[in-house]
Amino acid sequence: MKNVIVKTQALKKYYQTGNQTVRALDGVDFEVAEREFVSIVGKSGSGKSTLLHMIGGLDTPSSGTVIVDGLNLETLNSEQLALFRRRKVGFIFQQYNLIPDLNVYDNIIFPLELDGTQIDKDFIQELLETLNISDKQEMLPAMLSGGEQQRVAIIRALATKPAIILADEPTGNLDTSTSHDVIGLLKMLSRQYQQTLIVITHDNDIAQMADRIVQIEDGKISTKGSDFHVSE
Ligand SMILES: Nc1ncnc2c1ncn2[C@@H]1O[C@H](COP(=O)(O)OP(=O)(O)OP(=O)(O)O)[C@@H](O)[C@H]1O
Ligand SMILES: [Mg+2]
Repeated sequence: MKNVIVKTQALKKYYQTGNQTVRALDGVDFEVAEREFVSIVGKSGSGKSTLLHMIGGLDTPSSGTVIVDGLNLETLNSEQLALFRRRKVGFIFQQYNLIPDLNVYDNIIFPLELDGTQIDKDFIQELLETLNISDKQEMLPAMLSGGEQQRVAIIRALATKPAIILADEPTGNLDTSTSHDVIGLLKMLSRQYQQTLIVITHDNDIAQMADRIVQIEDGKISTKGSDFHVSE
């Protein structure tokens, strides 16, 4: 039996919005072995990102425990937690989620239009200038180097050689073949540096590249898919 590097016990995260309780995580018992590559799958809103955030110490549970590399995260003070995040884990966050057939500008104003809010064009131009993307506002997201940005994020996450890499849809904006290359690279590097790799993905082919697939459903690990070993 390999060493367990990540362990959650009866992990719950409830969000209270008005008089509604959202059970983002509703009793998750989850273990990942050292150097294991686990993919997490499940519908949108099922709790995948929430689970990753808890493991990475980015957010605190409502109840239950998270133990990473022998550390019970709830016993750490904020300074220790910051150190933990900096040294133990590398994050690759869920990306842009732009609407592919709207250009940059239309993507920006889309929520305002949905809302019927007055559009302050000068302000938007100012932001575009400040962020140095003013000349690309009529381009579609696919024409931007989102992939380059994503790869930079991956490199950043890997740069410190963290014990654990937590990736939330790391290839969400890449084409299929590039996605597979990127995950292949992550897998190779994680083996090379004896890292544990946890990847959230909607892509079945990417999920299949892992040692094990874990499925989340309504904040719980569902029996179907959990402990489903793809390879040893
Ligand atoms: N800060 C918050 N306040 C209230 N509800 C939240 C908050 N963060 C997440 N939730 C809710 O918790 C549930 C799980 O969210 P989560 O982001 O973990 O889903 P996910 O599985 O990562 O989905 P996706 O595949 O779309 O990224 C959702 O119903 C979401 O609306
Ligand atoms: Mg998510």
